[in-house]
Amino acid sequence: LSLSIAPALAQNYPTKSVTMIVPFAAGGPTDIIARIVNEHMSRVIGQQIIVENVAGAGGTTGIARAAAATPDGYTIMMGHMGTHGAAPALYPNLKYNPATDFAPIGLAAGTPILIVARKTLPAKDLKEFIAWAKAEGEKANHAYAGVGSVSHITGVLLNSVLGTKPTMIPYTGTGPALNDMISGQVDYMTDQIVNVVAQVRGGNIKAYAIALPERSPALPDVPTTKELGLDYQVSAWNAIFAPKGTPPAVVAKLADALDKALDDQKTKDRLLELGGVIPDKAGRTPEALQKLVESELARWTPVLKAAMAAGKK
Ligand code: MLT
Repeated sequence: LSLSIAPALAQNYPTKSVTMIVPFAAGGPTDIIARIVNEHMSRVIGQQIIVENVAGAGGTTGIARAAAATPDGYTIMMGHMGTHGAAPALYPNLKYNPATDFAPIGLAAGTPILIVARKTLPAKDLKEFIAWAKAEGEKANHAYAGVGSVSHITGVLLNSVLGTKPTMIPYTGTGPALNDMISGQVDYMTDQIVNVVAQVRGGNIKAYAIALPERSPALPDVPTTKELGLDYQVSAWNAIFAPKGTPPAVVAKLADALDKALDDQKTKDRLLELGGVIPDKAGRTPEALQKLVESELARWTPVLKAAMAAGKK
């Protein structure tokens, strides 16, 4: 494209459907949030935003593919605290730089973390769970969505706070991990609230605690780690990115569509019902997302290096 015609094409954008790469299995938290916000965003831009699940390597496979796509606005992605905050600390050969290889669109939702377990696990509360995890040692099975995923980094952090060393069982996303937890094949995991709310409410899994200072209105009966005296507070986020070089007019259209989706009552209700946290106006701009990525990289890199080193001892 010559520079002179690119802006004209960006003005007409979009003239066909847009692919949104979700870097985890269908049915999990990233997929759930993508599908909820895409519905209204598609209405605003007048073209369908279609999810393509490209799972693997804790989300880094799909994000690397999306980062390398033609930056024309027809391939975008749903990244998160793992793919855009933690991955560089865990993948020395990561094919993308979260701070420099993207055109941020905006934050889609905050997702508090819960400690959840199979319903047949004998521990009836967090205190008993901690005693159980310590007594079981490597016999305890801890599910996670691959190195660098949110469930991985929040899980490693939990194990390092508790001083436990379970057997880690990798999945392509916490959607399939949750299915195995419901059928009792894995013991526990730390997961984003939107994935587990329905199964906690339905009694199909146990929730020992939510890692927040205050209870979530979506699960008011689940105690917080703070009230239980556990030094473990962590919340994740999901956000939309385009590849670096996407025309500013296209980025602006997508950011406007996301902003309108997050103002749409039906979209808001669906996110809130699942325990999602809706970013305020200032927190959902491309500039705010760029700052968030930079601060998350600075925050997670030392924490993860220390937790991984402790886990190896
Ligand atoms: C997913 O969509 O499966 C999750 O976001 C995985 C994770 O990061 O734990």
